[in-house]
Amino acid sequence: MKTWLRDLPKVELHLHIEGSLEPELMFTLAERNGVSLPYATVDEARAAYDFKDLQSFLDLYYQGMGVLHTEQDFFDLAMDYFSRAAAEGVVHVELSFDPQAHMSRGVALSVPFAGLERAMREAENRWDMTSALIMSFLRDRSADEAMAVLEQAAPYHAQIAAVGLDSAELGNPPSKFAAVFERAKALGLPRVAHAGEEGPATYILEALDVLDVCRIDHGVACLQDEALVARLRDVQMPLTVCPLSNVRLKVVETMTAHPLPAMLDKGLKVTINSDDPAYFGGGVLDNFIACADAFDWDRETFKALAANAIDVAFMPEPRRAELQQRLASG
Ligand code: HPA
Ligand code: ZN
Repeated sequence: MKTWLRDLPKVELHLHIEGSLEPELMFTLAERNGVSLPYATVDEARAAYDFKDLQSFLDLYYQGMGVLHTEQDFFDLAMDYFSRAAAEGVVHVELSFDPQAHMSRGVALSVPFAGLERAMREAENRWDMTSALIMSFLRDRSADEAMAVLEQAAPYHAQIAAVGLDSAELGNPPSKFAAVFERAKALGLPRVAHAGEEGPATYILEALDVLDVCRIDHGVACLQDEALVARLRDVQMPLTVCPLSNVRLKVVETMTAHPLPAMLDKGLKVTINSDDPAYFGGGVLDNFIACADAFDWDRETFKALAANAIDVAFMPEPRRAELQQRLASG
């Protein structure tokens, strides 16, 4: 099953590129840029990745990305992830990044855009891996700041597939960003948002009704509200679920307790993703394998999940048809 899952053409829709920073590269970049780390060794860093909730993870996630300074750093970060993803059978990835977390450290907005864009082109040349970029806003910072970043990013709007919303969810409802997302919509930019990870089902409703998103990142809290589940099912709203992340951030207790099987039973448009692979115990293949171990799903179920991701990805139609064909004939 593991070899079969590796060879399955997988599309990853929920991946924070800063969360793909493995401790090995963190140490390399820390040395390159003269940044001091709170860990003496790679093993010590990994041992610190023991989270009690989303915020305890975010604290280390923002600290870790402090080693990223130059365009080359962002290129190296993305290439490190792409090379692992290629070996895992990932054929298309939608990577999100957090410009505010870099700008607040004095890194110009142009720097991540240039480094990530160069890596995306290189991944396509090297591995035929296509990709799309999502510019995410930090919901625990002000809406005014997000609006300013959106406007400042005007030279790059053609480079992004969508805008997103991430970081600390509780107390930062989607409605806080109504004006920002309205502006993004007016600019013709598709919208996605984290909702219903630690936050309640009402945040998912707000993401739909106020932000007019075309997919929900996580969304596992939808099960608190049967009417919402029916609505998500009826419109086949994509949910980018990240099972290992949910376990590591204590959104669920164990993999076997994860609501993914219930979500599938209810007819929801579910996809499987890694979120922050360097921090949560593996990439998209590891997430598929964890599901195989926990749920005993057959090949048809995994194929349906992989097909869902291809269906809703930001990609040109000929590429979508090619990947669906590859999946069907595998
Ligand atoms: N949730 C919210 N924000 C994030 C995450 C996450 O899992 N990873 C990186 N930013
Ligand atoms: Zn996420």
